[in-house]
Amino acid sequence: MKVFIIGASGLIGGNCMTCMRRDPDMDVIGSHFSFATLDTEYFNVFDPQAATFDLNAFAPDVILHTGALTHVDYCETHPDESYRHNVGSTRAVIELAEKFKSKLIFISTDYVFDGKNGPYAETDPVNPLSVYGKHKLEAENLIREKYADHVIIRVTNVYGHEIRGKNFVSFLIREARKCEEKTLRLPVDQFATPVNAFDVGALICAMIKDKKTGTYHLASDEYLSRVELAEKVLSFFPGSPLRIEGVPTRDLGQAAPRPLRGGLKTAKIRNEYPGFTFSTLHDFLEEHDGF
Ligand SMILES: NC(=O)c1ccc[n+]([C@@H]2O[C@H](COP(=O)([O-])OP(=O)(O)OC[C@H]3O[C@@H](n4cnc5c(N)ncnc54)[C@H](OP(=O)(O)O)[C@@H]3O)[C@@H](O)[C@H]2O)c1
Repeated sequence: MKVFIIGASGLIGGNCMTCMRRDPDMDVIGSHFSFATLDTEYFNVFDPQAATFDLNAFAPDVILHTGALTHVDYCETHPDESYRHNVGSTRAVIELAEKFKSKLIFISTDYVFDGKNGPYAETDPVNPLSVYGKHKLEAENLIREKYADHVIIRVTNVYGHEIRGKNFVSFLIREARKCEEKTLRLPVDQFATPVNAFDVGALICAMIKDKKTGTYHLASDEYLSRVELAEKVLSFFPGSPLRIEGVPTRDLGQAAPRPLRGGLKTAKIRNEYPGFTFSTLHDFLEEHDGF
């Protein structure tokens, strides 16, 4: 099984590559765009000819598309860029999947919901509030309309091992380790279901092998506000002078509206993989010395 991961220098793509490289049945190429790593090839979805490897010769059975513009507030103030990177890039990847007759896996978000009464199941009605959410939904719908052999995975608040440590949990660990007096202002009223990127990678691996199609929510059992999440991280650093100040979202001046009671329900994936257990933030923090 040949898998091409677009965005293996990133959080989710990188963890998917780690899982797949451990599987002898999978032959994987992962790409970077602006951040080269030792085990990725250069690839730009808008200019596939410029890749540093021969995609035609590789002819992937599966394409995993994780490339996106994920900065939600930047998307709100730069809607054209958001459209190009979130919708336009997906259109380009659909063309690639058509060319190679590959399965197409796309990563989406709980920002397709309005956050009035989350967590949400796959069948719940969507109603994105932000430009980012609208564009991710448009990309999902483009795939549903144009390409049958697809899997759309929705996730939220993803954390995990990551070469650049960009995710929120890794950021907090770094800040806590600095031992500097500092107060972080975080929303008390934004709730979601965090998930370890490694769990996402493990399940995507299994879903590829089982030839799954359709839309799936992947999330842990934890339903936490940003403040609760940060406090859990800080509880592992009892000597840190880092402080958290909980504030309502309306006081933060964020450009993009947030789905406040967001998060994802996972009955569907749990029914199909009853032996799989999502890890917790506590599990990840216990092994944090490794990164
Ligand atoms: N992280 C979350 O909490 C979260 C939550 C919900 C949904 N998602 C979705 O999950 C997906 C992956 O998120 P992530 O957190 O893993 O993001 P990430 O760490 O920023 O990774 C994105 C990857 O895409 C690559 N990329 C960007 N532009 C590209 C282009 N033009 N051509 C080819 N590759 C390109 C990046 O390469 P370089 O870095 O090398 O430039 C990077 O490897 C996104 O679709 C996002 O919307 C993430």
